[in-house]
Amino acid sequence: MITQDLFYALACLRRGELVGLPTETVYGLAGNAFDRQVVSQIFEAKNRPHFDPLIVHTDRLEKIFDFVEYMPPKAQLLAQKFWAGAITLVLPRKPIIPDLVTSGLETVAVRIPNHSLALRVLAALDFPLAAPSANPFGYVSPTQAQHVEDQLGIKIGCVLDGGNCEIGIESTIVGFENEQALIYRQGGITVEQIEAVIGKVQAQPHSSSQPKAAGMLASHYSPKKPFFIGHIPFLLEKYHKQKIGVLSFEKNYGFERQIILSEKGNLAEAAQRLFWAMRELDSMDIELIISELVPEMGLGRAINDRLRRAGAEKE
Ligand code: TXA
Ligand code: MG
Repeated sequence: MITQDLFYALACLRRGELVGLPTETVYGLAGNAFDRQVVSQIFEAKNRPHFDPLIVHTDRLEKIFDFVEYMPPKAQLLAQKFWAGAITLVLPRKPIIPDLVTSGLETVAVRIPNHSLALRVLAALDFPLAAPSANPFGYVSPTQAQHVEDQLGIKIGCVLDGGNCEIGIESTIVGFENEQALIYRQGGITVEQIEAVIGKVQAQPHSSSQPKAAGMLASHYSPKKPFFIGHIPFLLEKYHKQKIGVLSFEKNYGFERQIILSEKGNLAEAAQRLFWAMRELDSMDIELIISELVPEMGLGRAINDRLRRAGAEKE
């Protein structure tokens, strides 16, 4: 059920049910992070493997120390600059966080989301919320309440409707190893923004055998239809015998079933529309989707990361 009633959503969370929670990045599938039973329901509802840990959300920096042991100086700088916002920090945890949340890791991923409804929910609760993106595992993240309702509606207490997500792609995940900051997942806060605050950072190359962030698994964020990335005119030629849908950055290829991410060539607008566009194409009467990459800069890095993963071979 989709609702705008904050108090109803709070009641659901207090009685141990899951709630579709709007954030500025994507909708989360939220539940009491201190309650093992509830966390277990999150994994079940998403069909998510237990090796893939969850992000814990709260509304104030002081509250983080209820469940985080320590914040390295660089983490403090990033928190001051970007919270509330689209950055998740991976920090040493306290034992109060159930092992299930962190997949047994000694660190916990933490974020203060920048969405007024989410912040009001978090402020009213006396526990933080574990919330992965509210999509079945491996599928495209939801950016509207209806996306959550369609796929997980029957498994959860309600979806709190907070409108369309403003950023549209998930948070950037930053970890700290030997006081060095590492980017585990590209996202809503850009590498350029981060480097302006703490200097050069490294992107941790992903591995699907031992994912540090599941966003790192190759085939992730995938539509159900085959998804090919490359030079669109070339791909149109190659697949001309099949029913094609086209996802382009700014150019109109004059194709019937085509979504242009941003006619103005604006990366923020493209990010905002990306997952909606993938879902839209997935539901069209087509056999496959062809797409091109966007400029590899700023938010474009995170967009290209999602596009490449949507295009990876399905297992
Ligand atoms: O924007 C977002 O981050 C959204 C909204 C709802 O906040 N959440 C989100 O969650 O994208 P999810 O579960 O789809 O992705 C969280 C990622 C996972 O890929 C997980 O592997 C990584 O965070 N993660 C969680 N805890 C970690 C840890 N202790 N160390 C390394 N990576 C971790
Ligand atoms: Mg996800």
